[in-house]
Formats: sequence, structure tokens, C-alpha cells
Amino acid sequence: MFKDRLPWYLPSASTFAPQVDALHWFLVILSAVITVGIFVAMVFLAIRYRRRPGVAPGGIEGSLRLELLWSFIPLVLALGIFAWGAKVYFYAMKPPKDVMDFYVSGKQWMWKIQHPTGQREINTMHVPLGRAVRCTMTSEDVLHSFWIPAFRMKKDVVPGRYTELWFQPTQTGKFHLFCAEYCGTLHSGMVGYVYVMEPEEYQRWLSGNVGDPPEVAGAKLFENMRCVTCHAAGAGQRGPVLDGIFGTTVALKGGGEVLVNEEYVRESILHPLAKVVNGFEPVMPTYEGQLGEEEIMQLVAFIKSLKPPAGATK
Ligand code: CUA
Repeated sequence: MFKDRLPWYLPSASTFAPQVDALHWFLVILSAVITVGIFVAMVFLAIRYRRRPGVAPGGIEGSLRLELLWSFIPLVLALGIFAWGAKVYFYAMKPPKDVMDFYVSGKQWMWKIQHPTGQREINTMHVPLGRAVRCTMTSEDVLHSFWIPAFRMKKDVVPGRYTELWFQPTQTGKFHLFCAEYCGTLHSGMVGYVYVMEPEEYQRWLSGNVGDPPEVAGAKLFENMRCVTCHAAGAGQRGPVLDGIFGTTVALKGGGEVLVNEEYVRESILHPLAKVVNGFEPVMPTYEGQLGEEEIMQLVAFIKSLKPPAGATK
């Protein structure tokens, strides 16, 4: 195709991409129209009202109508751009309900990807066509930035916290994946590809790369790291019961409350004494240094997957 050969041409391969492009081109064309208009008027007026011998400059009166007009039109334009931008932003921030949860961790200098079904890959990411994909991301060392230009999606990947990004591919193919934040010597080599495949093809790819789903791997860790000793269901345990706790708000010792999300679970694993749940003693040891970010993500996935105990009201 002709446009593929344009140096600035970028495939538009997600549901989000055309929205960004529409706003982008609207801004470019609007700026061009205004710029050309101003320069044409400038040249025209400079010639029309140039100084001529024998003609004295006359007085200039203001025009309320003109002033209002050129205040009001830009105001409407600017508010319109704001509303449009906000609409696109909210779309980017709110993944649909039925997303596939991928876990991504950045590390000098590679991208590690974990599929919802447990397969892992490095610097490549295989996804099915037409499904919404959410990436929950963190870094094992320094700041990176996960960027898929063809999907118009980019998000910083930060050590010590989770960030999130989602996209829904609209065409099959191979698309560049970049690190977009300078992260050391081989930053420029921290690149890879996203492969968007037909769903059946994706299934075939999956069956050729078997692994534990993250929540299953997390369940094993939960046993192996002896988390189960204190967090087994039942009364009189040293730690809170974790079944169904994800997504709820719990009261904290010493007042206040906290929403149990990825961030809080991670913090509780690494810094258990930071926010102790009300009714429990601050006795949990830290697991900092014993678990890598991938393993912590698996534990988070496991806790996320725990259903509330039968008969419990929520
Ligand atoms: Cu990672 Cu730049």
C-alpha cells in the first residue's frame, strides 16, 4: 500500500488508535488553518495599510463585537478539544469487563510477559485478535515505559508499584514493542514484538507453550513460602483470612481503612507492618528479597482468584 511507504505512517491496529488519530489530525489541521489564516491576514493588512506619502495615519476605534467574536470562538474550540480529549482519555483508562489479564515486568533490558494461562515469553507477546488485553505491569529495577505505537498505548513501568494499560487489537500482524524511557546502557535494545493472531492460531500457540496459570503458580508459592501457616481459613489464625478479600475495604489497626488491591497485597508481602488489618498483631515477617516481582504477581493473582468463603455475606 502506498501509505505504508510514508516515513511517518504508523499502522492503526487497536480500537483506541483511530480515536487518538482523529483527535491528533483535528489538532494538526486546526493549527494549520489558524496559522495560515493569521499569516495571510498579516501580509494582506501590511500591504493594504502600508505607509504612503501624504496619507496621515488615522485613529483606531475598538470593536466590541469583534473582540467578543474572537474570544468566544477560541473558547468554544478549546472546551471542545478538552471534552474530546477527556473522552479519549477515559476510554484509555477504563478497560472493558471481559479482559484477558497479562502480567508484564520490565527488567534491564528485557520485557517479561506472563499470559493469563501461564505461558511466559521474553520480548515477544502473543495476543488473540479482537480480545481486550490488560497488562498489569511493574519493574524489577528502574523506570521503564511499555510502548506499542501501533496501538497508541504507552505507560510507565515503575519499580515498587503496579501500573496498568489495556488495548484491543483490530488487525493481525507483528507490531513493534518498545521501552520508551531511558533505562541504562541497553535501553535501545529493550524492544520486541507483539504478535496479534487469529484466536484459533493463538490457542495453538498457547498449547505449544504450556505453563501454570499465574493463580496456580501463586497457590503453589502460597504453600511453599508457608503463607498458609498463618492465613489458612478459620478462626484464631495469626493472619486475616484472604478468601474473597480482594476488592473489599478492610479496617486497619489504629484507625483508617484500605482498599485491598494489587498495590496493597504487594505492600503487605514486602512491608507487612505498614498497614496491619484491625484485630491482628504486627507479626508477619517481610518477604522482601525472597520473592521476585513475577512471583509477587503470581501471589497477587492467587489472592485475587480466591472466592469468598461459602455462606459469608459481603
Ligand atoms: Cu527499559 Cu528503557
